[in-house]
Amino acid sequence: MSSVVKNMVLLILVTLLVIASPKVDCLLLDSCSSDSDCGDGYWCFSCFEGFSGSRCVRSATTNQFKLINNSLPFNKYAYLTTHNSYAIDGEPSHTGVPRVTFTNQEDNVTQQLNNGVRALMLDTYDFDDDVWLCHSTGGKCYDLTAFEPAIDTMREIEAFLSANPSEIVTLILEDYVQAPNGLTKLFNDSGLMKYWFPLSSMPENGQDWPQVSKMVANNQRLIVFTSIKSKQDTEGIAYQWNYMVENQYGDGGMNAGQCSNRAESSPLNDATKALVLVNYFPSVPHRSGACVDNSENLMNMLNTCYGSAGNRWANFVAVDYYKRSDGGGSFQADDMLNGRLLCGCDDVHACAPGSTFGACSPP
Ligand SMILES: *[C@@H]1O[C@H](CO)[C@@H](O)[C@H](O)[C@H]1NC(C)=O
Ligand SMILES: *[C@@H]1O[C@H](CO)[C@@H](O)[C@H](O)[C@H]1NC(C)=O
Ligand SMILES: *[C@@H]1O[C@H](CO)[C@@H](O)[C@H](O)[C@H]1NC(C)=O
Repeated sequence: MSSVVKNMVLLILVTLLVIASPKVDCLLLDSCSSDSDCGDGYWCFSCFEGFSGSRCVRSATTNQFKLINNSLPFNKYAYLTTHNSYAIDGEPSHTGVPRVTFTNQEDNVTQQLNNGVRALMLDTYDFDDDVWLCHSTGGKCYDLTAFEPAIDTMREIEAFLSANPSEIVTLILEDYVQAPNGLTKLFNDSGLMKYWFPLSSMPENGQDWPQVSKMVANNQRLIVFTSIKSKQDTEGIAYQWNYMVENQYGDGGMNAGQCSNRAESSPLNDATKALVLVNYFPSVPHRSGACVDNSENLMNMLNTCYGSAGNRWANFVAVDYYKRSDGGGSFQADDMLNGRLLCGCDDVHACAPGSTFGACSPP
């Protein structure tokens, strides 16, 4: 053989070997020493209270729109939500003063979105002549409690929506911005306004939301809720509790077997609000305990809240340290909710296209 042919044969052989070499597919809870030992959608993690050593646990949601379809109303799906999405471990100080406040997450917002988080809880404040994300107290942001200018995070969200034209992101703002049109300016300046889902399309009396496919076709893929009632009239930003019921947050929301509304929300069984949000995180974020909170206890609370909400499954499930679990964690919880919502099964993977409601095929 000529050397050219030899080289070609060699190249083909090497290519075949690379293609044929089995992809190391991780099994849930397999031992691991680094993320690369685990397959896509898993990471290598230690949950001392849940299992020994380091094991592969889930790190990403199932995309329910891709697995099933996106032709149902927005309120017929569940969305993984991060509590204080911006309060991230290791975020450098932007004020020159070291921060003295709690953190609730360890991935940045871009990573959260890439892993399937679809709703972000953000605390917006007037600070430094601008809107900032702060984890503060008394409605005022300080150098010590400031995380970053909100526009930085909004630009990450804009980049995600631009790169993922079939995805919808919901922002739930604990809002302390008093500057006139402060939020409107923020959404204008960050390029997010072009994705704005208008107030006029939000159902007022518990009717279904528009279909996800329509929202995508209209490019109305950013839903924003504020906690300041007057902004619905002044800026056209939806007042959260006109559209959503929500359980108590913090320690008060973690008593097994109990699920009742936070003060600002209607009772959970008020069906004139089409969306249901379940918070499940302690008052003081607990990094090492999160893997236990986000596992069986979370599942149990979602079942409890289903009953309290008049037999309605949560659309939003909000957690701290969303990737920490003893196995499936918040991702399995999201699969359970989508399974219940879409086909009455306990895992969205059992909602085979064409099957009848409640006739669950094995996942
Ligand atoms: C988010 O984290 C990833 C992984 O560490 C990094 O590559 C990316 O630059 C970060 N993005 C932002 C906006 O901080
Ligand atoms: C937002 O942008 C619109 C259109 O460009 C403009 O009319 C409006 O004045 C802007 N609002 C603020 C508060 O920046
Ligand atoms: C989308 O999925 C739901 C839930 O399985 C099903 O009821 C509906 O018929 C499907 N729609 C289309 C257009 O396939």
